Amino acid sequence: MQAAYFEGNRTLRVGEGAAVEPGPGQVRIEVAFCGICGTDLHLYHGAMAQRLTLPHVMGHEMTGRIAALGAGVTGWKAGDRVTVRPLDPCGMCPACAAGHSHICHNLKFIGIDTPGALQGSWTVPAHTLHRLPEGLTMREGALVEPVAVACHDVRMSGLARGEQAVVIGGGPIGILVALVARARGGRVLMAEVNPFRLQLARELGIEAANPLETDIVALVNERTGGAGADVVFEVSGSGAGADLMTKLPRTRGRIVVVAIYGEAPKVDLFRFFWRELKLAGARVYEAEDFEQALELAAAGELPLEKLITDVVPLGRVEEALQRMEGGGACMKILVDCAGEIQ
Ligand SMILES: NC(=O)c1ccc[n+]([C@@H]2O[C@H](COP(=O)([O-])OP(=O)(O)OC[C@H]3O[C@@H](n4cnc5c(N)ncnc54)[C@H](O)[C@@H]3O)[C@@H](O)[C@H]2O)c1
Ligand SMILES: [Zn+2]
Ligand SMILES: [Zn+2]
Repeated sequence: MQAAYFEGNRTLRVGEGAAVEPGPGQVRIEVAFCGICGTDLHLYHGAMAQRLTLPHVMGHEMTGRIAALGAGVTGWKAGDRVTVRPLDPCGMCPACAAGHSHICHNLKFIGIDTPGALQGSWTVPAHTLHRLPEGLTMREGALVEPVAVACHDVRMSGLARGEQAVVIGGGPIGILVALVARARGGRVLMAEVNPFRLQLARELGIEAANPLETDIVALVNERTGGAGADVVFEVSGSGAGADLMTKLPRTRGRIVVVAIYGEAPKVDLFRFFWRELKLAGARVYEAEDFEQALELAAAGELPLEKLITDVVPLGRVEEALQRMEGGGACMKILVDCAGEIQ
């Protein structure tokens, strides 16, 4: 079995690894595809280094088939097509006790705190499994994890049919938030600075504008008769995005912060007072968001195949990370973990 090993210092090595036989309550999966995510890029850049045991295998957006079952695993069999909800909560802390195990105080994120899916064979707890519906390809299924992020974000926003949403940042997560919001009956406007991503959003029928060229506040006011947006999603992780987000909502409008910031951004709290705004954070997903994501994807309501701009072999992961660094002409890059490595 081949694996992509991150050795620190911006270095990845593809090498032979030993498949881990599943212990009690675990399954071993033969990985088909694994998407590369912004988090993997952060790890590659040295973020969260204290959480990694080097060499580390990254990756958490995947599909595969069950190859072996550990003792006590029921409801699954070898050959089942699955994706993984990569969260391993402690089950004991106040967050878990309150029913918020997805943001457990001691949460282990599989693929950061434990080895990830950029390898031919991956062993994980069986409680993380979700079955891939028939009709969903292995390639599309690798996008279910980020779709679940988007489902969680839209659910946390309380978006109602006919409401105006603005999505700031049209990367893989932002564009999925826009697509899920639209599938839920929202009207969507996206703000994005990358020309390739702007164009892709427009090809998918999303109204999208570049805040460097267009006055987004004026545009939202025009779309809403001067009221402002019902919901704003901040998915850019930029200071400019955090600044724009408070200027867009209507009175008692909602802001959902999805992005993770390299440094704490400046936020205009006056706007919260002035318009009685509400602010919510949204982090990863709960099991029901994964189920919703699988349902939406299987119903063909999301053009997932159009978001896959590249499929590369394991041997090209480092090159793919460097392409993502440029913020250039790519959206979701998948790694074919079962095929040739070069
Ligand atoms: N809440 C969660 O659980 C969760 C899960 C996954 C990712 N994230 C975070 O969500 C964010 C988005 O993830 P992604 O993978 O799509 O990242 P990404 O970096 O690919 O996307 C961010 C996009 O924002 C655009 N952007 C930058 N400045 C902008 C500006 N001023 N106005 C408009 N657009 C601007 C960029 O061009 C880029 O396309 C990241 O911060 C990521 O860390 C959060
Ligand atoms: Zn991810
Ligand atoms: Zn816990």
